Amino acid sequence: MGPVPKPLIAGNWKMNGMRGSLAQIKEIAASNMLASGKFDALICVPATLMHSAALLTAHTPLKIGAQDCHDRENGAYTGDISAGMIADSLGSHVIIGHSERRTRYREDDALVRSKTIAAHKSGLIAVVCIGETEEERSSGRTLDVLRYQLAGSLPDGATGENTVIAYEPVWAIGTGRTASIADIAEAHRFIRSELCKRFDSEGDRMRILYGGSVKPSNADEILHVENVDGALVGGASLTVRDFLSICSAY
Ligand code: PGA
Repeated sequence: MGPVPKPLIAGNWKMNGMRGSLAQIKEIAASNMLASGKFDALICVPATLMHSAALLTAHTPLKIGAQDCHDRENGAYTGDISAGMIADSLGSHVIIGHSERRTRYREDDALVRSKTIAAHKSGLIAVVCIGETEEERSSGRTLDVLRYQLAGSLPDGATGENTVIAYEPVWAIGTGRTASIADIAEAHRFIRSELCKRFDSEGDRMRILYGGSVKPSNADEILHVENVDGALVGGASLTVRDFLSICSAY
């Protein structure tokens, strides 16, 4: 086992947040907790807020990211944004392959992979999401699903520097249900071993976040599981107090 990566607490605001919400970004960025340097913090805001949020946090430890990107650099793709545009708006990260996009927009592993390549080309850190559905778990296929998703979604150039994995059981997202500690430990151990098989020592350096109903009451336990290098937080990231309370696990 290699060195443990520095943890990352990442918020995913999804389709929430108006300009007025920038005050929350400012408050999180100013927290002493972030200044401790024990973990990295990121909020992935809607594209409309990204540039303003990035300017507000420019000289703070808080990073700002996006929630999706197109796999092409530019072109006739009405409504989409490219990785280059995210970088140009001073975003540093982009979530790719979130289950809401895999399900609602039918994004498959091949597309997730090409979006990840686009993100890397633009100098962004890709937060690549994987996770099984309830049906896949109950039929005992969780680890197979994770293996296929990792193999298909990650490009060869993935490193600990440019890629973060987010393990999010689909049935735990936004439902208030979390995977058991034993299930989280098993999934993360498995993901780590798959990453190391393919990427050698870079596999040890890639952060593996857990996501799915992480909240102040369960964060401490989840974040101290071996191979859990942080969290991807949806609902609880919308409240400054809850987000910082999750961070206080470090
Ligand atoms: P949740 O969302 O914390 O609201 O379950 C997590 C996510 O979708 O990334």
